[in-house]
Amino acid sequence: MKKYIAIVVIAFISLQLTAQTPKQIILETKNAALVLSVGSNQRVTQSYLGKKLPAADYTQMRGGREVYLTAGMENPNEAAIRMVHSDANPSLELQYVSDAVNKKDNDVSTTNIILKDPEYPVEVVLHYTTYYNEDVFKCWTEIKQHEKKPVVLTEYASSMLHFNADEYWLTQFHGDWAREVNMIEEKLTNGIKTIDSKLGSRANLNQTQTFFLSLNNKSTETEGELIAGTLSWTGNFKYTFEVDSHNGLRIISGINPYASEYHLQPNETFTTPEFIFTYSANGKGQASRNLHKWARNYAVLNGNGPRMTLLNNWEATYFDFDEKRLVELFDEGKKLGVELFLLDDGWFANKYPRNNDKAGLGDWEENKAKLPNGISYLVKEAESKGIKFGIWIEPEMVNPKSELYEKHPDWILKLPNRKEDYSRNQLVLDLTNPKVQDFVFSVVDNIMTKAPGVAFFKWDCNRPMTSAYSPYLKDKQSHLYIEYTRGLYKVLQRVRAKYPALPMMLCSGGGGRADYEALKYFTEFWPSDNTDAFERIFIQWGYSYFFPSKTLSAHITTMGKQSLKYRTDVAMMGRMGYDIRVNSFTPFELQFSSEAVRTYKRISPVIWQGDQYRLVSPYEANRAVVMYVSEDKSKAIVFNYNMNTRRQDIFNRVQLQGLDANKKYRLKEINLFPDTRTNQPDNDKVLTGEYLMNIGLNLSPRAAALTSNVYELTEE
Ligand code: GLA
Repeated sequence: MKKYIAIVVIAFISLQLTAQTPKQIILETKNAALVLSVGSNQRVTQSYLGKKLPAADYTQMRGGREVYLTAGMENPNEAAIRMVHSDANPSLELQYVSDAVNKKDNDVSTTNIILKDPEYPVEVVLHYTTYYNEDVFKCWTEIKQHEKKPVVLTEYASSMLHFNADEYWLTQFHGDWAREVNMIEEKLTNGIKTIDSKLGSRANLNQTQTFFLSLNNKSTETEGELIAGTLSWTGNFKYTFEVDSHNGLRIISGINPYASEYHLQPNETFTTPEFIFTYSANGKGQASRNLHKWARNYAVLNGNGPRMTLLNNWEATYFDFDEKRLVELFDEGKKLGVELFLLDDGWFANKYPRNNDKAGLGDWEENKAKLPNGISYLVKEAESKGIKFGIWIEPEMVNPKSELYEKHPDWILKLPNRKEDYSRNQLVLDLTNPKVQDFVFSVVDNIMTKAPGVAFFKWDCNRPMTSAYSPYLKDKQSHLYIEYTRGLYKVLQRVRAKYPALPMMLCSGGGGRADYEALKYFTEFWPSDNTDAFERIFIQWGYSYFFPSKTLSAHITTMGKQSLKYRTDVAMMGRMGYDIRVNSFTPFELQFSSEAVRTYKRISPVIWQGDQYRLVSPYEANRAVVMYVSEDKSKAIVFNYNMNTRRQDIFNRVQLQGLDANKKYRLKEINLFPDTRTNQPDNDKVLTGEYLMNIGLNLSPRAAALTSNVYELTEE
């Protein structure tokens, strides 16, 4: 009898325990885990974010901070969401209802967690997609309400993450026109640090939505625990980093709610942009490689496909060209051996010809004086010379001196009763208006209809939004920044529905737009109008933390004073192109360049698809060294840029990374200028991966000022 009672008691206790064991939602990738728990009050908390652990360890983790903190109730800090209900109640409580996992394949699965307010008909769905092999997490949120009247959203984050560490080190990337993505790392102190943009159309001009957050200590390329985060949104964004009184950090990411109160209609769903992050326990290099791989596999248009080498005419001619000159340029492109000619700004508008940046923007008809036979003639001429033809557009903008401005003053963002506010002599079209969306789509569609052979577009956007007011939105002005970006996506979706594979470069007066939502529609982007190779090393280095090399357009121009070889070597670490007068090349320069194009085509699969290792940072030394290793580790390309300008520096040996210690590699210096010889003492030697990664190479044997080298390692 006693035994029987004991069994019943044990059964009762274990039943009680099961009932009380808090539910956990475990999101795992190959090396990382995010653990959420549901508390007895039905609130969902983040119990853990970090290195993947044995499953049993997660069950020890309870509680934590609320995963999508609401405003208006007991939370005194920054919130992920703030809603004012139709009865003016400014609070929200979110309780767990259910969760479900949707496993797409062995790599990708999405967990959806439904939360509801117990008193108001409001539903919030938290979405988390994990990319197992890439160690990447994607988070976004849907907000719905079923009240009788609209509610007002004044905060609507994509996600919120919590950390508990001794110290937090934030690396951000800021800049301006022609000096993009300067990296700076600082320790976060108690209080709030905000990184945001209020620029609307050219949102990344000053701040980028990319950051590293290192825990406990600063991280290096190879050491340190950190996350690398970025928001997929081509408009105003905001990050809030708040260190609270207990030294806990919360990171809130999302659309910038600045001047953007959102009136959510009954039954409408507000979907936030995606916040992407990767976790690395081995420094920034690993985080970048995770993101590069993820971007190629899932984010960028044709992410695993090839890119075209090209000749662009912007810095070669600016606005000063005609049909004859362009046809000559096709020949110059042909001499180089590039695949595409890209016609830049200045080809359109008749009543107010586009001969400078003061007129014509918006009038997308070929200028009859410059191009009497139109684009289709140019396409045919280019094709007859064995080169493809691409074209520049800036379809979201208008010069006041244009027919478009005269015909459709109501299509333009500008304040009533105020003077027009110009930037680069232009204004932004009102993309919230479906008619304007039709027009912007027609800019691409008309060109493609007239000249179906057009093989590439450069889509520019040269001004931010200021003094913005939408004639279309009328009394809903606070929706402008959001609806503009949504309007842009609607147009891009239409372009992609009709022209799914057409390669397009995203440009915004340099790197004013570079984010993963835009890159769903683009194959590459223009990082900066600064094409001085010395400056470009920093700029391309900065972008390389978050974007794979094949998305970084890098052109050889005459802007910098470095040798043609140096400029070429720098462009080779991205998607190489030219923007230069080839007819002013010396025979040696032409020979070097056409060989460089051939070399690039041969080695580019490693640069585009390989793993990138940043070996020596230009921020820390007078040189930069970057290498790319093919996935099977049979090939590697090493770029060495000496950035010393004052004297012959002494540079130490560089230990390579990412090779197979057991493989043997032959080292060859490539891309040499005609009539020059390598100084590399180990040139043509066969060395083991072990040696190369431990003893390393003397990459700059003479270290002459502003010289550079490209080395190829091939498995023997
Ligand atoms: C922007 C782009 C340049 C060029 C010009 C043309 O500045 O970044 O590459 O296309 O516009 O006006």
